[in-house]
Amino acid sequence: MRIVLLGPPGAGKGTQAGWIRDRYRIPQLSTGDMLRAAVANGTEVGRQAKAIMEAGKLVSDDVINAIVAERIDQPDCAGGFILDGFPRTTQQAAALEQMLAERGLALDVALEFKVDPAALVERISGRFSCASCGTGYHDQFRRPKVDGVCDVCGGTEFVRRKDDQPETVQARLEAYEAQTAPLLPYFRERGLLRTVDGMAPIEEVTAAVAAVLEAVVKDDGAANA
Ligand code: AP5
Repeated sequence: MRIVLLGPPGAGKGTQAGWIRDRYRIPQLSTGDMLRAAVANGTEVGRQAKAIMEAGKLVSDDVINAIVAERIDQPDCAGGFILDGFPRTTQQAAALEQMLAERGLALDVALEFKVDPAALVERISGRFSCASCGTGYHDQFRRPKVDGVCDVCGGTEFVRRKDDQPETVQARLEAYEAQTAPLLPYFRERGLLRTVDGMAPIEEVTAAVAAVLEAVVKDDGAANA
């Protein structure tokens, strides 16, 4: 299954991508994580991306398209993948369509997390993750079971993202409205858009995602029968 996750910063894309990855055993391709890794490793892409990301703006389409094209050719993507944070502009969406067509592939679904923008600053500013394994938490909505200890790996160090400060979050939300929101009609016109209520509690959003994806699997099965 090939899935695109859509929604503004803090909508819950990464949170639900983790569940989808484990349920369907397909990799989560987060362009944000790839760029943060490039920044941490001091690569050329990382050097170009650092200031742009810290300002809450979008990294250039050419750089992102090249990263994704290379990543989807890796063997772990053969059975499908989750695109988390890509595409983010109509140019990236067109590039994705071409990338897939060149490989004889197609997208199964574009899943939108519909949220109230007013709630997002609170969601994002409360976010933190385990410094060892990357598992995500929230001060209020998803605390570790034991305070200060990661549920997954037992790590005791946690980090917060630099671009999660309120001023930068505002710039990221504006970039989403201007450059990414136009992708909703783009995917709707192609019959690929499905929407879930991203304001519900995390477990309820997961149940709605599961229902959408099970229907997609069923439709695919029927089409291939
Ligand atoms: P990226 O890393 O993709 O960030 P983003 O899209 O801004 O999304 P977030 O990771 O902030 O939010 P999310 O929707 O994953 O929410 P999460 O699940 O963590 O991009 C960062 C930067 O990289 C961009 O600004 C840009 O500069 C660059 N970039 C990346 N891709 C690019 C591209 N394609 N083109 C150009 N530039 C690109 O949830 C947030 C918090 O809320 C968590 O703490 C979670 O526990 C909590 N939460 C989640 N769901 C719920 C719920 N239902 N109820 C309550 N709390 C919840």
